[in-house]
Amino acid sequence: MSKKNIAVLVSGGGTNLQSLIDCEKQGMFGESKITLVVASKPGVYALERAANNNIASTVLCRKDYESIADYSKALVETLKNADIDLVVLAGFLTIIDEQVYEAYPNAIINIHPALIPSFCGKGFYGLHVHEAALAKGVKVSGATVHFVTPECDAGPIIMQRTVEVKQDDTPETLQQRIMEEVEWKILPESVKLFCEDKLEVKDNIVYIKEN
Ligand code: GAR
Repeated sequence: MSKKNIAVLVSGGGTNLQSLIDCEKQGMFGESKITLVVASKPGVYALERAANNNIASTVLCRKDYESIADYSKALVETLKNADIDLVVLAGFLTIIDEQVYEAYPNAIINIHPALIPSFCGKGFYGLHVHEAALAKGVKVSGATVHFVTPECDAGPIIMQRTVEVKQDDTPETLQQRIMEEVEWKILPESVKLFCEDKLEVKDNIVYIKEN
């Protein structure tokens, strides 16, 4: 397993960031470490989680840049200056462009709180995803970890896992169950596989190397 520097990009509470921090502490990522947290706005609780765990952090606000291109350029500079090998989008809600994808081919992963290709793409983030799943009456939902490509939520799928949808679920209860039972597990498991160089992408399909 080679040593990788991991950046986690966040926009909110950072419970997925916390699960990554906890798994790193348990030795799940070997020598690899979360060395940077980038938040899209100041004051989010994810920044406190970074500080509590002595992880360097920075805030990059979209409104401080004229365009998505300028924002993306600054983000790439920040990541490259920190010598980042893997970028994890953990509830990061700011739009970025191809400069970032091109700088990190098959090295940016995202967690999405539904079973892609359902309930994904533009406008599907946070609670909206669970509202849409309940409105459709699906009987299972879950989460997906995938590599990020220019097309929103359409990159190669690394891992998915399901939960049952209950008759009395609200968007909040479904979100919480998906986080606890799926997101906080499959995101660290995917990061582990990346750090072990076990993820191979061929024709938009992810293959997990056996050893
Ligand atoms: C998570 O449920 C994540 O899957 C979702 O935002 C939440 C962030 O929570 N991401 C998206 O909806 C991306 N389309 P967290 O800040 O507590 O990790």
